[in-house]
This record gives sequence, C-alpha cells and structure tokens, in this order.
Amino acid sequence: MTGHILAIDQGTTNTKVLLIDGKGAIVATGSAALEVVYPRPGWAETTGEAIWKSVEAAITACLSMAGDVSIAAIGISNQRESVLLWDRQTGDPVGPCIIWQCRRSEERLGPLRSDETERLVRQKTGLNLDPLFPAAKIGWLLDNVDDARQAANEGRLCAGTIDTYLLYRLTGGESFRTDASNASRTQLFDIAANRWSEDLCTLFDVPTSLLAEVVDSDGTFGQTATGLALPTGIPIRVMIGDSHAALFGHGARGPGVIKATYGTGTSLMTLTEAPLHSQNGLSTTIAWKRGGETLYALEGNITVSGQAAAFASTMLGLADPAALSSLAQTVADTDGVVFVPALAGLGAPHWDAEARGTLTGLSLSTKPAHIARATLEAIAMQVCDVADAMAADLDVAISGLLADGGAAANPFLMQTQADLLNAPVHVPAIHALSGYGAGLMAGVADGMFDDEDARGFVRENTRSFAPNGRDCDRSERRRNWRDAVTRARNRP
Ligand code: G3P
Repeated sequence: MTGHILAIDQGTTNTKVLLIDGKGAIVATGSAALEVVYPRPGWAETTGEAIWKSVEAAITACLSMAGDVSIAAIGISNQRESVLLWDRQTGDPVGPCIIWQCRRSEERLGPLRSDETERLVRQKTGLNLDPLFPAAKIGWLLDNVDDARQAANEGRLCAGTIDTYLLYRLTGGESFRTDASNASRTQLFDIAANRWSEDLCTLFDVPTSLLAEVVDSDGTFGQTATGLALPTGIPIRVMIGDSHAALFGHGARGPGVIKATYGTGTSLMTLTEAPLHSQNGLSTTIAWKRGGETLYALEGNITVSGQAAAFASTMLGLADPAALSSLAQTVADTDGVVFVPALAGLGAPHWDAEARGTLTGLSLSTKPAHIARATLEAIAMQVCDVADAMAADLDVAISGLLADGGAAANPFLMQTQADLLNAPVHVPAIHALSGYGAGLMAGVADGMFDDEDARGFVRENTRSFAPNGRDCDRSERRRNWRDAVTRARNRP
C-alpha cells in the first residue's frame, strides 16, 4: 500500500473525485450530480446539504473503485463565488446556497453604483461590481433569510464559499478556513494586502466575524473527522478555486500561457508578474498563494458555455451535448444563425447582468442542426472575446491556448476554437484538470512528487489543433457574433 492523493473537484452541477498515485496516474474516479434550481429568471441556487451529499457520493464511488488504498492527503478544488451561511455550532446550512450565476443581489448593487465606489472596489479586489461575486450575495442572505442578520450579529453564523463549507464538514466543524484564491473572488478581500477588507465589509454590510481565516492554498487546513465516507485523520493539504487549480495543473508557474477551462461557464486565466488591472473587462485575481508567495492572474469568466450545450440539447429534444455535437457536424455551417447564450446575463468581457439569451439569423432554411452548430460556435466565440481582451491587456498576440474541462474532450469544438481564434489549441489527455491540479498541488505539498514532475505529468500527452480556414470567413463569423451580442444586450 502506497499513499495516494484524493482530489475533490466540487463543480456547479456535479462533484468529481480522483485518486492520484505517486506517479501522477489517476487510479480511480467517482462522480455525483448536483441539482441546481432556477426559481426565477436570473436566480440560481442549491443547498449546502445537496452539495455535501454529492461530495460524499462521489468519494464513496471513487473509493469503492479504488479498493484497498491509503490516502496521504486531500486536495480540494471548487466552484468559486457560490456562497452559503451555516450555523457555527451545528454546521447546519442557514438558507440556500446561492450559486455564482445567480443575479438576485443586483438589487443591492444598484445603490452602490457610482464611479467612486466602483473604482474603490476594483482597486481593492480587482473585480467589477457585479452580482456574480459573494459580497452582495452574503448581504442578500443576511437580510432575506429569517433571523440570519440577528444570528450573525450574535456570532452564531459562518459565511463561506464552497471550499470553506466542505472543510467545515470534513473536519467536523473543527476548521473554518479558506484559501487566498477563493477569498480573492469574494469581492471582500484586499488582494494587495492579502486580508479581508474592513471597508468592503462595511460597504456590503457583511460583518467580518462571519468570514473564515485565509491561509495559503497549500496551507494547513485540518484533518478529516470521524464518521465520514473517508478514514479519520487525513490532512486536507490544498484548497483552491477550480479555474486556478486547472492553471496549476497545466504546469503554469509564471506568465506566458493562457488556459481556458470549459465547465458550466468557461474561465480563461493567465499568470501576470504583478496584479494587472484590466482595461478590457477582465478581472485581476489571486492565482494561488504557496509558501507565502502570492501569484496573480488575469481572468475572464464566461457565465454560460458548457451549460449552453446542455440547454440547447434540451430545447432541441436531444439526449445530451454529445448528441448536439453530432447533429452540429451534419451541416457545414450555421446558415447565418447565431446563438448568444446570455442565459444568466453576460460575464467577461461584457459584464451585463441584464443581457438575455438571443437567437438571430433564423430563416425558413434553418434546421435544428444549424442551431446545434451555432451553440458550439457560441462557446468558442465567447472564448475569443475574452482572449482578445487578454491580448489587449497584455499587449501580445495570442499564440496558443491550453484547454481543459469537460468540453475540451470534444475535438469538433476544439477545432472550431482553433479556427475562430486563429491560434493552436492544446488539449492534455487529462481533461479534469481542476481536480487534478488541486491533487498535484497537494502531492507536491505532501512530498509525494516534486514540482517539476507534477508539471511533466500533464504535458506529456497533449493533442494540438491547428487553425484552419480563411481569414475573411473568420472575420465575417466574428462580426455576425458581435452584432448578435449587441442585440442580446439591447433588448427593447
Ligand atoms: O466561477 C465559477 C466557476 O468556478 C464554476 O466552475 O466548473 O462549475 O463551471 P464550473
């Protein structure tokens, strides 16, 4: 029996668990779905209990596949910006878990919108004032869940992102911590000073006493408690936001590479020498903090991408996104159809919470296959928009893109991406890079392998897609896309 890393990736619609051995091989996997409900247009929520159950189920599935193995350490990557409250004593969730895509807190942001406040928020957090971020979501929960504000004032509540909640559950309430990457996405964290900002907590009406201790991404988080689906006493060595973990998984340790993680949404991220404040609609964020050193990144977070394929599959009566992709390939182009999947507003680089999904260019010659193809093109087009913004901020041409996440397994989409971006797209054999990246970071922290080995595990097996197609065709398709985005943003 040798030690393994158990990597937990808690995502928006499912949890994936990987067991990684000392050579970086994935020896067992498990997954479990997570239900998200949309009670009103623009709202998205689940429950803390549903998240925990999905994590337990995925761990159980993974361990039953693995058989008799020892687990040396745990690494956790997670959907960022989703947030919940829970009782400090019992650990019971108080109110729903508001999902990152939810825009219910826009009503709290309206009164805060002024040049001065937006500048302050951007300067301290690197983030636009937007309902995506937990600051206003926590305020909404405190003022809309029965007795929550009072319980908070009496010190009986915890507020946290998913990493913190899972840690609380895994350690039996012993540990109330988060890491710098997750904290940096809350809009309450001063990313230069590396601490919660009193000013921002006051602005968003969130008592600082509700917030977890912030430690390094590979810091000391705690140990598993008794009575779980896991053995007792396993150290949790890493907690890190999923997009950040994928960047680490790709082997990025300094500026130069841009990666896209295709999940429910898509997140593009690149490391920067220092915090770089975007002029083009991107976020400045903490990539991770290891050994006391903070690395910063530029990020463009797209709100709906992989989920657009799931949505369109349902609308077209297809079994799943794989069927959508097969249908899309039965036609040579979209026949002028453009789908803008602004199904929860638009994130980077547009930041328009009010934009709505829009289908343009329909005619009597339109077939379901054209809509299917337009859906996959939309995933790639949104990535192009963010990549353009990144190129402008960095003042470089995009020379390539590293891709991961579920949709990176689709060669048709990856080829479309390369064609529209006019740059090669490189896809490692391991697509689940968020969990794997967190696992690698935990393996390095635990001394199971060194950092150079960890970088090599992913880079060994990469498939590349070279761009094809004529410039004039690419330009026309991108122009049609931009026109459709304008329509999605300017509804009558
Ligand atoms: O910022 C939200 C993001 O972290 C969600 O990730 O993998 O659930 O789409 P995913």
